Order: sequence, then C-alpha cells, then structure tokens
Amino acid sequence: MMNEIVGLCKRRGFIFQSSEIYGGINGFFDYGPLGVELRKNIKDAWWQDMVQRREDIVGLDSAIIQHPQVWKSSGHLDGFSDPMVDCKASKLRYRADQLFYGKVIVAGEVIGYVSVLEDATMQDQADKAAKKLKKKVGAEGDLSPVELVVYTKADPSEYVLIPSPATGEAGSLTPPREFNLMFKTQVGAMSDASDNAYLRPETAQGIFINFKNVTDSSRVKLPFGIAQIGKAFRNEITPRNFIFRSREFEQMEMEYFIPPGDDVWPKYHKEWIEWCRNWLISIGLRADLIGEDVHGEGDLAHYSKACTDLTFHFPFGEQELWGIAVRGNYDLTKHQEGSGKSLEYFDEAQKEKYIPHVIEPAVGVDRILLATLVSAFAEDEINGEKRSLLKFHPRIAPYKVAVLPLVKNKEELMSKAREVFEYLSKRYHCFFDAAGAVGRRYRRMDEIGTPYCVTIDFDTIEKDQKVTLRDRDSATQVRLSLDELYKTLDEKLNF
Ligand code: GAP
Repeated sequence: MMNEIVGLCKRRGFIFQSSEIYGGINGFFDYGPLGVELRKNIKDAWWQDMVQRREDIVGLDSAIIQHPQVWKSSGHLDGFSDPMVDCKASKLRYRADQLFYGKVIVAGEVIGYVSVLEDATMQDQADKAAKKLKKKVGAEGDLSPVELVVYTKADPSEYVLIPSPATGEAGSLTPPREFNLMFKTQVGAMSDASDNAYLRPETAQGIFINFKNVTDSSRVKLPFGIAQIGKAFRNEITPRNFIFRSREFEQMEMEYFIPPGDDVWPKYHKEWIEWCRNWLISIGLRADLIGEDVHGEGDLAHYSKACTDLTFHFPFGEQELWGIAVRGNYDLTKHQEGSGKSLEYFDEAQKEKYIPHVIEPAVGVDRILLATLVSAFAEDEINGEKRSLLKFHPRIAPYKVAVLPLVKNKEELMSKAREVFEYLSKRYHCFFDAAGAVGRRYRRMDEIGTPYCVTIDFDTIEKDQKVTLRDRDSATQVRLSLDELYKTLDEKLNF
C-alpha cells in the first residue's frame, strides 16, 4: 500500500522528492499543487480549532533561528542526539537503536551473527539470514530462533563480529556514538564559533522564550495555551518511510500552562489526549487505526511526569503520531536560569507567584498528512469498473467541488458552467474541467479526493435549469436547482 500511495502522490502532484532533477536529497520533500492545498487545509483546521475557536489559547510565530543560548538552556545542545553507528566499508550510517543483531546458534554452538534494521518483519529476516549462514558454513543440527538484541546493548567485544546490514560482512561497524541532530549554521560574516547558530529542532522553545512577552502583552490567565505552527529541522541519521521521518518537517505544537501541583495536571493531560484523538477523527483519520502508547517511567525524561503518544497504524507499522507530554516547569525554569529573567506568573486568585507547569500536545503536519492519505486511500468498483479514490474529509480535501460542463463545444453550456464555477469558487476551492468524457473526469476527481462534482448538461440549459451533484464516495447523483445546489453545498462544506 505504501508504494501505491507514494506513486499516487507523485503522479497526481501531492509530494515530490526534493531536488529530484539533481538526483534527490535524502530526507527532504517538496509539496506539489495538490499537496500544498492538503497541507494548508490541515494546518488551517488545526489553527481554527486550536486557536481561533477557543478563548484560552493564543497563537505565535517565532523565528526559526534563535539565540544559541536557547538550545543550551533547553538541553538540546548537550542532549538532543541519537546513537549512530558507521559502516566503514560502505560509508553508510545507521541509528544504533534501530539496528538489531543476533547470534546464530546451531546445536547449541554459536556459528556467527546476523544483523537487521528495525521493521515489522525483522524477526523473519533474521531467521532467514541465520538459515542461509547455517547452509553456507555447512553446520549440522538444530538451528535456534535468533534472539534479536539492539546494537546499543552489544558488548564491545561483539562490534567486530556483527555483520554490517550494507555488506553482510563483519568487521566494518563502529561502536555507537552520540550524534547531535541539530543543523548548525552561521549568523553574520565572521564564520567563527561565536557566530554558531542552529535551525530549530522543535517549535516549542520559541513558545517558552516568549512566555513573558505573551503574558505581558495579552490578557491571558492560567490555564491558557500558546500555539505555533512552523518548520523544524533535524539532521536525522536515517530519514525513512517517505515523509514520516524527514530532516525538514513542520510541527503544530501547543504549550498549555497550568498551575503547579501533582493533583492538577492529570485532569488536563487526560482532556488533551481526548481532544487530540477527537480532532484527528474529525478531519478524517480512521479511528480504528489510531492507538495509544503510554510511556512507562523508564521511558520518560527526568523532568517529565507523564507522556502519552497517539499512534497510527501506518503500512510500515504502528508509529508515533502525536505526543502529549506533561513537562512540569522544566523549560521555563531552565530559560529563567539561562536568561536571568524572571518567568514567574502572578496568580491573582491565589495571590502567589510561581513558574507554571505545562502540558504539551506536539504533532507533525507531515505525519498527519501521511495518516490522512492512508485513511483515505481506497479502491472499489462502480458499475463493474475498478476505481481508486481518496476519501478525504471535505474539510481537508484539496478541491471541494469540480464543475464539469458535459461538452465544451456548446457555448451556452460552457457559459452556464463558468457562472456556477465563479459563484462557487468565491466560497470554496473549485476545479473547472471541460476536457474528455465526463466519466473519465469523475475518475480523475475521485483519485485526487474531490468530494463533489457538479455537471452542467443539455437539460440544464434547454429544460430545467437543474444541475447534477455527484457524491464521490457513493457515486450517487441528484438533480438540483442552482439555489438548492448552493444551499446543499453550504450545508456540506461549512465547518
Ligand atoms: N516539543 C516536543 C517535540 O518536538 P517530538 O516527539 O520530538 O516532540 C513532536 O516531536 C512531533 O513532531 C512527533 O510526534 C512527530 O509527529 C513530529 N516529528 C518529530 N520528528 C519528525 C521527523 N523527523 N519527521 C517528521 N515529523 C517529525
């Protein structure tokens, strides 16, 4: 299914590999004419529901490049890293926590090692590789199932024994070492260490460093949130699974500030998990593909009190979609220490000063977009003919309505269609298509997820002034007067 989605995205202009004409650049993507609309609709829906329709949340748009001290205080400079392993023979790099190895044991004796990269089929791959090794060395006896261990847990004496996933040969993998994921850049003309700056790896810190600006300039009162949508950059060691893990992506993050106290945060955390789940379903994600991963104490950062990820069953496995973390007052405290400026809040009701705590729902736009494609992708049969369609929720569909004159060589019919298009396109993003058989035009609209088609035919101009409204998912058609059409679409497309 992933191959079909990637193929459709390129063919229909949703997503392209970045710099494709130069051979591409790994971990970067460009959004085409339909992708940019889908992406914008997802962001607009989030902004409307998260900011504009709530009284307790305000917006922010902070700079991508911030004072380097921001990343020192937040801990990113020292700790935002993944363990990396190099293959000296192939010059390829792997995330050490995504590389697994196992001993190949025949009749109780270790005859060698196998290695695999983390994915849903890695146990199968490892057992197959073990079988092959047994055959190659001509070992006799029972082959035990391979027990996979993550490379970060390997004993140093094993590094030279574990084969590289690139070459299949042992001896070329390095010990794991930490690799900071922040992209470094230089600000100004000096090009020395004093000019070092970083592309932000998350939008969240821009919110924390503006906490005082927002509380001083607006009339927010606890509990309240600050939301931001924007690009984030991470020099991922192994970007993969299409747009799921890339090096340039966009986040939608919200920091919800609450009073301190261990009895305070659980209620807000629970509410935000539910809000996020319901919001995903409201824009068309399949509820049966959404899961939950509650982090155990061992998986939490030392300052974090709890974290629940909403997960999604992508074709390549169940993966994190939206993290809802309870971050205590760690970030504001660190920026207060780092900047020397007070980030305390005066609680008028309690007549006391404190550093607020925070609940953080943080999600990637690109991951939601991929999840909408997976949820919407469908194939069915209409009158014995196979069709593939994207059942996007109308709120996020790139085009809401296609206006189709039955033929293009009839002046009156074309001008009626233009009149309808002009009226509708002032309200919704519409597509005008007069080329080819109308059935083919319907299929094209189904494939890009346009929920409604309006057809203007001979009866419209010669008989009843009515048009045909076709529904994408059921392929049913009704005839409506123009007044009825406009009213019906208004009901269906008003969110
Ligand atoms: N401020 C907290 C934070 O950034 P995170 O779990 O590292 O937390 C939040 O990122 C969300 O951003 C993730 O749940 C995911 O949806 C998205 N995200 C993170 N890294 C990504 C990447 N390399 N490519 C695409 N999306 C990513």
